[in-house]
This record gives sequence, C-alpha cells and structure tokens, in this order.
Amino acid sequence: MDRDQTSRAALAALQAVEHDDSDLVSSGRVRNLVVDDDGTVRFSFTLHPDDPGTLVRAARKAVESLDGVTTVKVNVQLPQSAPSPGARGSGGGLKPGSIPAPTPKPGLLPQVAHVVAVSSGKGGVGKSMVATNLAVGLAEQGLRVGLLDADVYGPNIPLMFGESRRPPVSGEKGKERIAPLERYGVKLMSLGFLLEKEQPAIMRGPLIAGILKQFLEQVHWGELDVLVVDMPPGTGDAQLSLVQTIDLDGAVMVTLPQEVSLGDVRRGIKMFERVNTPILGIVENMRSEVFGHGGGEALAQEMKVPFLGGIPLDRAVREAGDAGRPTVTSAPDSPAGEALTGVAKAVREALAGG
Ligand SMILES: Nc1ncnc2c1ncn2[C@@H]1O[C@H](COP(=O)(O)OP(=O)(O)O)[C@@H](O)[C@H]1O
Ligand SMILES: [Mg+2]
Repeated sequence: MDRDQTSRAALAALQAVEHDDSDLVSSGRVRNLVVDDDGTVRFSFTLHPDDPGTLVRAARKAVESLDGVTTVKVNVQLPQSAPSPGARGSGGGLKPGSIPAPTPKPGLLPQVAHVVAVSSGKGGVGKSMVATNLAVGLAEQGLRVGLLDADVYGPNIPLMFGESRRPPVSGEKGKERIAPLERYGVKLMSLGFLLEKEQPAIMRGPLIAGILKQFLEQVHWGELDVLVVDMPPGTGDAQLSLVQTIDLDGAVMVTLPQEVSLGDVRRGIKMFERVNTPILGIVENMRSEVFGHGGGEALAQEMKVPFLGGIPLDRAVREAGDAGRPTVTSAPDSPAGEALTGVAKAVREALAGG
C-alpha cells in the first residue's frame, strides 16, 4: 500500500471505531492524519472530558491493525474550550478523561507534570511488574508516559518491555543527551544502562542520588503527563536519597498478602510520610489460595491510605513479563489484566484528586 492508500484506510478504520455520537473523523476529533515513509501514522485526537478512558486506545488499535502500518503516534489534545489543567502539585492536574498540559516548573523535571514512585519493602514482590503495567495502562488511557527504572539493585524494566537496545546518546562529551527508547507508548529509561554489573552493591545513597540527578538532567523526556519511577526496594539511605532527589507527587506501595511483607510496606509508608510524599495507595500482588488475600486492604485501612487493587498470582503474568509483553496489553481481559488496568485508573484518579 502507498501512503495515500494507508491514509485512507486509517481514516476509514477510525470512522468505524464504535463511539456514541458521530464518528471520530467527521466530528473533527481526529485531525492532521499523516503517514510517514516508514509506515508510521500520526494524528491528533481531541479527547473530551467525558470520553471513556479507552477511546484513544480503541482508535490506536484500529489503525495499528492495518497492513502497512508500523507505528501509531497519537497526539492527544484537550478541546479548546476546556479550562487549562492545573500545574503540577497545584491539586488540579489529571481529571478522568482529560490530559494535563505540563506547566513548566523549575527543578529536575520541568516538562513532567506528575512523578509517581512504585516502591516495596523487599525485592521480588512484583514492584517492576506493577510499574510496567501502570505505565502501559496510563499510556493506553491516552497519557504521555515515561518509566524510569531507578532500581539500581535489580534493574529489570527493559526486560519486561522486551527492550535490549541501549538508548541513543548524542551531543559532545560532558553535554550528552540521552533519548529514551519507546515501547507500548511508554518512554523508557533505566539507570542500569549506566551502571556496571558490580557497581550497585558498593553504591551508597548519596552517590546514587548524584548519579541519578546527573542522569535525569541528560535524559530528553520531552513533555510527559506522568513519569513512573521503579524504585529500589527497601527503606534505607539509598531509597531516601532517591526520594529526596526526585520531587515526587506520590508513591504506590506494592505488597504481598503475607504479614512479613506488610510490615516492610508499613516502614516504606512511614519513610514517604517523613518526606511529605503522599501515598497514592497500596497494591496487593500475588494473591492466591496459599498466600491468601486481604492483608493489603487491611493495611490500607490501618494506615488510612487508599487500596488500589489486588492482583492474582498468575503464571501468565510472569510469562508475559519474561516475554516483554505487559499483561495490560497482552491479556487485558484476564483477571490480572483487569486488576492492573484498575490500578492504573485508580492512580490516575488519585493524581487528579490530590
Ligand atoms: N501476580 C503475579 N503472578 C505471577 N508472577 C508474578 C506476579 N507478579 C510478579 N510476578 C513475577 O515475579 C517475579 C518478581 O517480580 P518483579 O516485578 O521483578 O519484582 P520486584 O521488582 O519487586 O523485584 C517476576 O518474575 C514477575 O514476572
Ligand atoms: Mg524489580
């Protein structure tokens, strides 16, 4: 297919997307559709406040499935008349169904509207799995999303995205710019790209914070609605330095149903509270007959923080992670996929209300 044909096919596919009022193209929702030589289709999409969060995803999927289309880039916009969304930290920001325009703000990440940490007491509880699916889930709702793997002890975000390339670096020495790689609509960056294999074990908090700061200044994120940060597990000085380096808007805590894990998370919540980072809520992961469930909900009540959802222990979740195909896209209708999408929605709403 040539570019004209692809472009006509894309418009027809968008017209066929199920939506209550007139179709997406005639109503002017979709505009400026162009097809690049390499099969990338770009268009802008005006998202109204009461649209279902899945509308952008449906539009994207419709075009993605066409022959000759390699990538779909959607530039999500608010209607002209919509009130301008609040600046980061102002308490405005994300409303369900709306996309905030990041307001320039001094600091390390001036083009990022919201920074959300995903944290846990110990490794192995599914922190990276939750961070991955949260990032992809938010991107599927039409937000511009970045994911920073800051887990210096076990960076595994690239693996969960099936990404083995190193990000391209440009610019002269001393002034390098690093461009994030993009997968599933999420801009990815890992501190692991910078670290030698033996390095994390000898790294102390202030050193990690220094490296992270330098790193964040070099990464070219562009404008983001949300940056998700996969934190190192635990509550030691490395974690505390990171929290103090990145100006966080909130933290998501991941726990297992078991009491030991809950105790770790309790300490984690206290750490974030000490530095005035709001807890967006608790996710209970790997619910099962054996491990039980409900501990996360009880802890949320006890600590007076929201409960964001319970994810079943499901082999398919691990296999999806190993294969680089996050569950929210590879199995959205499975119980785990639905629970993870629910977590992304709850986080988005928590950011809107916070
Ligand atoms: N709900 C789940 N069901 C099955 N396997 C899971 C689930 N959550 C995580 N896993 C798997 O458990 C392992 C540890 O998860 P990971 O996200 O890497 O943990 P962490 O980042 O906390 O160390 C991974 O292999 C992951 O795919
Ligand atoms: Mg991890």
